[in-house]
Amino acid sequence: MNAYMGAPTSRIDGIAKVTGAAKYAGEFNVAGLAHACMVGATIAKGRIARIDTTAAKGVAGVIDVLTHENRPPLPDNDLAYKDDVAPDGSPFRPLYDGKVMFNGQPIALVVAETPEIARCATGLVEVSYDKQPSVTDIFRERDKAVPVKAPANPMEAAFAPPKTRGTPDQALAAAAVRHQAEYFVPIEHHNPMELYASTVVYERGGKLTVYDKTQGVQNVQKYLCGVFGMQPEDVRVMSPFMGGGFGSGLRPQFQVVLAGLAARALQRSVRLVLTRQQMYVLGYRPAMIQSIALGANTGGTLDAIAHDAVTITSQYEDFHRQETGWSGVLYKSPNAKYAHRLAKLDLATSCDMRAPSACTALFALESAMDELAIKLNLDPVELRMRCYTDRDQNEDKPFSSKALRQCYQQGAEAFGWGKRNPVPRSMRDGSDLIGWGMATGVWEALQVPITVRIALTANGHAEVACATSDIGTGTYTIMAQVAADMLGLPLDNISIKLGDSSLPQSPVEGGSWIATSVANAIAATAEQVRGDLLRVAAQMPNSPLAGLAVSEAVLVDGKLASRGDAARAVPIADVMRHGRLDRLDKELTTNPAQDQSQAHNTHSAVFAEVKVDEQLGVVRVTRAVNAVAAGRILNPKTAGSQILGGVVWGIGMALHEETMIDHRFGRIMNANIAEYHVPVHADVHDIKVIFVDEPDSSNPLGMKGVGEIGIVGVAAAIANAVYHATGKRVRNLPITLDKLQS
Ligand code: MOS
Repeated sequence: MNAYMGAPTSRIDGIAKVTGAAKYAGEFNVAGLAHACMVGATIAKGRIARIDTTAAKGVAGVIDVLTHENRPPLPDNDLAYKDDVAPDGSPFRPLYDGKVMFNGQPIALVVAETPEIARCATGLVEVSYDKQPSVTDIFRERDKAVPVKAPANPMEAAFAPPKTRGTPDQALAAAAVRHQAEYFVPIEHHNPMELYASTVVYERGGKLTVYDKTQGVQNVQKYLCGVFGMQPEDVRVMSPFMGGGFGSGLRPQFQVVLAGLAARALQRSVRLVLTRQQMYVLGYRPAMIQSIALGANTGGTLDAIAHDAVTITSQYEDFHRQETGWSGVLYKSPNAKYAHRLAKLDLATSCDMRAPSACTALFALESAMDELAIKLNLDPVELRMRCYTDRDQNEDKPFSSKALRQCYQQGAEAFGWGKRNPVPRSMRDGSDLIGWGMATGVWEALQVPITVRIALTANGHAEVACATSDIGTGTYTIMAQVAADMLGLPLDNISIKLGDSSLPQSPVEGGSWIATSVANAIAATAEQVRGDLLRVAAQMPNSPLAGLAVSEAVLVDGKLASRGDAARAVPIADVMRHGRLDRLDKELTTNPAQDQSQAHNTHSAVFAEVKVDEQLGVVRVTRAVNAVAAGRILNPKTAGSQILGGVVWGIGMALHEETMIDHRFGRIMNANIAEYHVPVHADVHDIKVIFVDEPDSSNPLGMKGVGEIGIVGVAAAIANAVYHATGKRVRNLPITLDKLQS
């Protein structure tokens, strides 16, 4: 039993991916496919005064050019454009009218016989605008920012700031030691490797088969039904593989509407692949100005925390997350207050990006804790131990599990933290200053209702199906691991079907909730399969399993057996033969009523070493240790890769990433991966991932997700290391060379 769960299994889809057999949304081919290319607005705000497509249409090979003037009918109500994870507000409607709300907004779609012709002709679409003044600078709008409200969408309802505890103002004023500062994280973009693409196959009679880059095929299906007034049986959305999403594909993106509009208008299959530059208007991590105030007593415990944030969204939707309350689950403080305001800018709506809110909020909180430790003359790990909380103070609940102390201990041990000289600029390697910093990470451990179908065939194979996505995290693999163990079959005998809206229901893959949800759903469905088999087996002549309870039966090595007595066993094939079953199908919806009396979180402790060239200010992250507590780890290899990737991204957040806008035009200036800097191999050195033991009984498998925890805390650990190396505190990311000049 449990031969696969817990083993560092390689990806079952790995060979398909590296050989190119795995097909992505822009790679599906059908006869007669037309190719589309989008034209984006060049102003941030105003109206299209005139749009002339005559020249573009005149290019040989151009089939049509769609604009708001000649597009097919579209619905005129917001509800039709709402998706499962839409924030409050009025969703963007592609090609709806002449109104321009952000620079780069799609305003025309050229459809041609080849992608090259389509792209060429976009340059011939002539547009003039009635321009209005636009604001895209968070610092200009921060004073007009409005307090966030709890969203109406039930999927989003948790994203309101937590309530005030105690009397934070008085406690802050009376605190023996205080730290207060402002921290800034700029706009950042997801930049997944795969370009956003939709291949819309126009079937006879107008049905659509849509290959789309998305984290939620059923979300896109439902959305397209709303936008096109179609029935679910007439729209099938597939996304078998995804080359990175990181949150950018949680909501349906406009390329799928554009490709669908064109396919329906032309009654022909259409593919649209966005350019890298165009992907910069799909959504972004909102810029965030944060003020943190900490009041402590000289013993190193907290009396008061105040966390105030301003984030950004568009003029038409109010996207925000619960940005300010994370200290409530990390550090004990009798008094706390949180405030979160939203600045509305002339940009596309901001969106989720890996560990949304925690990753930005903890840059500020964990930088501030480091600054407080220095004021208190305490080791930063020791301060966090003294402030440790065993209760979620926002909700006043205990944790289902919280092995964060072990993260601090094991991370510090692996890093060699005990050898740190706390004095800034005290550690050197030739002309490099060495800095060691640390920070805490936290994320949520959520579960969602999900449906799984298992089809067991008499030859000992099983197909496991669910409409979830695998956004690159390893979902295919862990689904197969769980199924193999629970059905007692070799891994190779399991096939996984996912990323298809016609499969049993799944919410979007995000929030680090799918692994836990789908794994437990497979286990529960397999138990039903076992029950069915046992009922048949018990009827067999002289059955060794007669009278056995389902809870006492196991599927192992291709047999149905008694848990306590391996000699009592019947091969699954024999059971199915006896029952005249070619195939046994079970479909089950698992609705995990998580214990609401407990808080469910993952935690981490991140340790980073930087070497800073004293003359040039060049920062390298030479070592990092990320010790993570995330319940039971099903696959240390794929889970470890999630954490590694998170640390790499954290290096980018700390040192490289920043979306720059020319505020005169409201236009992103570095909308490409040459000028939008991300870490490359030369920036990534020694990274060690530790999973600490964390028994948790929130779900039968004892799991929590690991998709997002890996990035949280990394930027702060690096910023703290840079301070330790240089004596210079940088509170606005990224930490570029210029900010280290004294
Ligand atoms: Mo994740 S940012 O919920 O895809």
